[in-house]
Amino acid sequence: MERLFRLWSQLASYWSSLLTLGFSLTVFALLFVFIKRSRSWSRYPPGPTSLPFLGTILQVNFYNPHLCFNQLSKKFGNVFSLQYFWTNVVVLNGYEAVKDALVQKAEDFADRPYFPRYEHLGYNKRCEGLIISRYGPAWREQRRFALSTLKNFGMGKKSLENQISQEAGFLCSAFSSSSGLPYKQLIKKAVSNVIYSLTFGERFDYDDEKFQRLVEIFQQAMKEETGFLPQLLNEVPFLLRIPGVPQKVFQYQRASVSLVDEILNKHKETWESTHIKDFTDAFLQEVEKTKEGVETSFTYENLCLVAVDLFSAGTETSTTTLCWAVLYMLLHPEVQRKVHEEIDKVIGRDRSPNMLDQANMPYTNAVIHEIQRYGDIVPIGLPHMTYRDTELQGFFIPKDTVIITNLSSVLKDETFWEKPHQFYPEHFLDADGQFVKREAFLPFSAGRRMCLGEQLARMELFLFFTSLLQCFTFQVPEDQPRPREDGSFAITHFPHPYQIQAILR
Ligand code: HEM
Repeated sequence: MERLFRLWSQLASYWSSLLTLGFSLTVFALLFVFIKRSRSWSRYPPGPTSLPFLGTILQVNFYNPHLCFNQLSKKFGNVFSLQYFWTNVVVLNGYEAVKDALVQKAEDFADRPYFPRYEHLGYNKRCEGLIISRYGPAWREQRRFALSTLKNFGMGKKSLENQISQEAGFLCSAFSSSSGLPYKQLIKKAVSNVIYSLTFGERFDYDDEKFQRLVEIFQQAMKEETGFLPQLLNEVPFLLRIPGVPQKVFQYQRASVSLVDEILNKHKETWESTHIKDFTDAFLQEVEKTKEGVETSFTYENLCLVAVDLFSAGTETSTTTLCWAVLYMLLHPEVQRKVHEEIDKVIGRDRSPNMLDQANMPYTNAVIHEIQRYGDIVPIGLPHMTYRDTELQGFFIPKDTVIITNLSSVLKDETFWEKPHQFYPEHFLDADGQFVKREAFLPFSAGRRMCLGEQLARMELFLFFTSLLQCFTFQVPEDQPRPREDGSFAITHFPHPYQIQAILR
């Protein structure tokens, strides 16, 4: 009995030492993690003082965020932090910081934040479209598919070049026959026709009422993205559950998804597996191929969202760039004259421009690049999110931090551009007048999430711009004031309305 008691007390003391050791180790490990974490957090980027609940939201001008971020970066540096309610946000400014994040640490910065405010449109964690898709297998599958399918249907090839050239011809005819020129609507319809026919296999006449409605709805949907309200609804999504709120606040976004759904339903009726003629057909083929029970992003619901994404990304950006192009030609007649001279020398007046001409037109090419740089079309890019804890320029940025890439500050980075705040095509020309690429030219962003439609956009910009200038001289109508050079912001940065006179050459 005594031996048993001794054995028991030995065991008890053994267990208690083990427990003490375990406890000490746990405390030590927790302490280690805590010290490491607080050391890391002490290197979190600086920023303005955060208020309870609101964070730093009152410091941000959501109608001109890039200008506001430029101001804040003067005070807090190129990498600074904000707090949108309870969400950590880090803003990257200038070429070095943006390049380090998107190129050197491409995967760390490749994620996108989750947007609860789009749930009422059908976006959710299993059906994310393409643009706001989280970094992972579904995004990879869709990005790869979209790139290869758009290439199959001509992106970067002669077949699409011919189609854009033909559309440019329709645009020039519309310009010459319109009085009181609704130039923006016409450009938007020409650009929309290109992406519409790639996605849905047809184009519209510019006076088609259905087309007019489609273009109008997508334009209004973009405006619903502006300002403080969308931000608030994202951070406090239960507000969207209040009956009537989504219908009121996002009525055009809802209308755009229903319209695309309608178009796709009609498309499905004529779909033939042996005759794949556009992006939608190719996607439906993938849906058909998918075996039951296999997890995939090729679903009918996702097709609708991907199609909405392609159409909205492919329309507004190129349209806005071309509107800046016409405006800068009005404001800089000497640049317009030099472009005219180059067109006359290289292309003449009797044939349409083609992509081979680009190599022989360094000045026009430089002007188009400068339009993109100075026009600053997508000034704060699209939001990214850190995929894991990471370091940038000596700062610690934890996983799941929302990242804003201030592309405007790259395109106007004072350490890179000779005249960042002037329209100066010579930025892209060497001493012999030859075209030069510039590394800080990032209008399409960079890294894993960079613009998927860059090749298409470049083709559109060159062919539409040279075709318009081959046909017309643009000037401000006599009775009109000189147009403003600054613009407004709604995801894209677009010019204030202006009047033009297009004189046939
Ligand atoms: C001048 C025209 C254009 C500009 C300036 C532009 C610019 C951009 C920018 C800045 C981004 C965000 C990249 C990032 O998150 O870092 C983007 C993404 C995207 N763009 Fe464009 N874009 C243009 C035209 C187009 C066109 C014609 C299409 C149509 C195919 C398109 C499709 C997309 C898509 C699908 C994404 C999302 C890519 C992803 O998240 O993986 N864009 N674009």
